[in-house]
Amino acid sequence: MKILGIESSCDDTAAAVVEDGRVLVSSVVSSQIHEHVKFGGVVPEIASRRHAECIAEVTRSAMRKAGVDYDDLDGVAVTFAPGLIGSLLVGVNFAKGLSFAADLPLIPVHHLRGHVASNYLSSPELEPPFVALIVSGGHSHIVMVNDYTSYEIIGRTRDDAAGEALDKAARAMGLDYPGGANLDIAAKDGDPLAYRFPRPHVDGAPLDFSFSGLKTAVINLLHTARQKGESVCVPDVGASYIKAVTDFLIDNTMTACEQTGMKKLAIAGGVSANSVLRRELKRRCAEKGIDLYLPALNLCGDNAAMIASQGYYELRAGNIANLSLNALATLGIDRC
Ligand code: KG4
Ligand code: ZN
Repeated sequence: MKILGIESSCDDTAAAVVEDGRVLVSSVVSSQIHEHVKFGGVVPEIASRRHAECIAEVTRSAMRKAGVDYDDLDGVAVTFAPGLIGSLLVGVNFAKGLSFAADLPLIPVHHLRGHVASNYLSSPELEPPFVALIVSGGHSHIVMVNDYTSYEIIGRTRDDAAGEALDKAARAMGLDYPGGANLDIAAKDGDPLAYRFPRPHVDGAPLDFSFSGLKTAVINLLHTARQKGESVCVPDVGASYIKAVTDFLIDNTMTACEQTGMKKLAIAGGVSANSVLRRELKRRCAEKGIDLYLPALNLCGDNAAMIASQGYYELRAGNIANLSLNALATLGIDRC
């Protein structure tokens, strides 16, 4: 079964063809980073205009690379939630047009379910149930993936997402958008023990996160140093801050595995590309005898292959939309 996936929830316009949910046939991503970098973050109005300009060519390119025609497809899967509403609407309306014109089922896919599915492409042997740590620019969840279309959120952030906390700190350190990725590089040779940041926890909720205190701590540290005319070592501050963020993510995730008795853990979302998170999780999981699944680096960020992969499982479960499908800026992974 071949599914065409379309993704436009934030600042990447993407299309991909995936076979049986597991085999990546083609994947095209057009990034808008160069457009947004001068503003230090994504400008929604610009993002939706760029999606509208390039979605047709990105899709044509994915179809051409896959060597398929619309007759060879079994469905069109599209990210319909959550994300920037103007950006989502471009993909949803484009997919509606395609599904109507080519008489193909229209498959609505939740963006975070797509991120989880990036693991099905990278690890063909992975099957639910498993625990997933989903860490993106807008979300930080620990999720019990009971089945391909059945999810239970068992831990969530009470304020900022991990990606947002990394992006804001990186910006305060003078690094360009997207901060999380640039901070990972800048901190590579830094000393993670040079600075001590608070070790946050959420009272009575050992699986929940809170990153706002950490974010404030690093911003205060940088401001105070600037006011005193002192210089800070960005690699050291960066490495110490990344350690604080990733320790928190990993500690709670290991507790989730313990509480659920799960011996399989997958990570997903843009922050899953972080080198420290990947390295430390490998170490901690090996200690505990947990099988760890990591998405390939090119599938950690937003892409449409993950949407086509999840689309296959949604189609198998009978989740098909009609032409009244709307885009939603917010929606729980367990709510569709
Ligand atoms: O999943 P994603 O591409 O978009 C959303 O759905 O939000 O995630 C984007 C987030 C951004 O916060 C970005 O800074 C972060 O992922 N990110 C990283 C790395 N690469 C991307 N954070 C830490 N280390 C990285 N290597
Ligand atoms: Zn994403």
